[in-house]
Amino acid sequence: MPAEKMDDSGKEAGISNGGGLVYEEGEAEESVRPEDLSELLAAGTKESHDKAENTQFVKDFLKGRIRRELFKLGTVALYFTYTAMEEEIERNKEHPAIAPLYFPAEIHRHEALARDLEYFYGEDWESQVSCSPAAQRYTGRIREVGRDEPALLVAHAYTRYMGDLSGGQVLKKVAQRAMKLPSTGEGLNFFQFDGIHSAKAFKQLYRSRMNELDLDEPTKERIVAEANLAFQFNMEVFSELEEIGKTLQDEVLDAGMPVHGDVQGDISK
Ligand code: HEM
Repeated sequence: MPAEKMDDSGKEAGISNGGGLVYEEGEAEESVRPEDLSELLAAGTKESHDKAENTQFVKDFLKGRIRRELFKLGTVALYFTYTAMEEEIERNKEHPAIAPLYFPAEIHRHEALARDLEYFYGEDWESQVSCSPAAQRYTGRIREVGRDEPALLVAHAYTRYMGDLSGGQVLKKVAQRAMKLPSTGEGLNFFQFDGIHSAKAFKQLYRSRMNELDLDEPTKERIVAEANLAFQFNMEVFSELEEIGKTLQDEVLDAGMPVHGDVQGDISK
């Protein structure tokens, strides 16, 4: 929901772009019920999350074993994925399951990714990038649900945005260090949510908005199943990158941060 459509009675929700996004007192309080969509999603995708964290590509990334060429291709895959997801969200922004979760200024990543691609590929980046087979399967599914069952877009938004808001700052630092990118953040706009000052507060708001959606149990179950599918698509993109990585010349590796303790521990909700 755009800021101007929201009530003005409450407190801030981790949003810092001067828009003053506010919400009702108590809206994002943390009292959880097992039938809440946020709880069903967290519990129902736990196994997928564990698997995604343990893919070789992700493990290498966390160790700072990231090659620039592969990182660029990963950014390209994200660009096509978010373009599809955000176009479908935009087309369905009046849908009752989408409107309360519509925060384009705060979380949408299309523009940030376009800027990152311009940094990596230059002004004519659009003529240099293409949608890989794994990204095509992912975006194909997003287009399909956007057209046929928009409520399932909630699953795609949850899987990406909640994940991005959970680990972004750590991943950004790892990438910056491994690829010696400028400290000004060029090439890493994707990880930077300028409209959100507290990821934790924003995630709380997003969860409470998901929980207020008027959905029957079967639809909630379909959303959880769809989120697992979204994790699967992400893992297919990782495997694809992993395979491409095997064909690339080795660049200097091992430039990462220590992986135990702080790195993973810092990824806080
Ligand atoms: C949440 C770590 C990869 C999607 C989280 C949380 C941590 C975390 C610590 C907060 C968990 C909590 O407080 O309950 C990691 C690490 C990853 C990783 C270390 C490996 C680099 C991914 C991937 C995805 C993803 C690849 C999907 C594409 C999510 C989602 C949440 C989340 C959707 C929100 C869970 C919820 O609150 O319902 N992650 N994650 N994560 N992550 Fe990841």
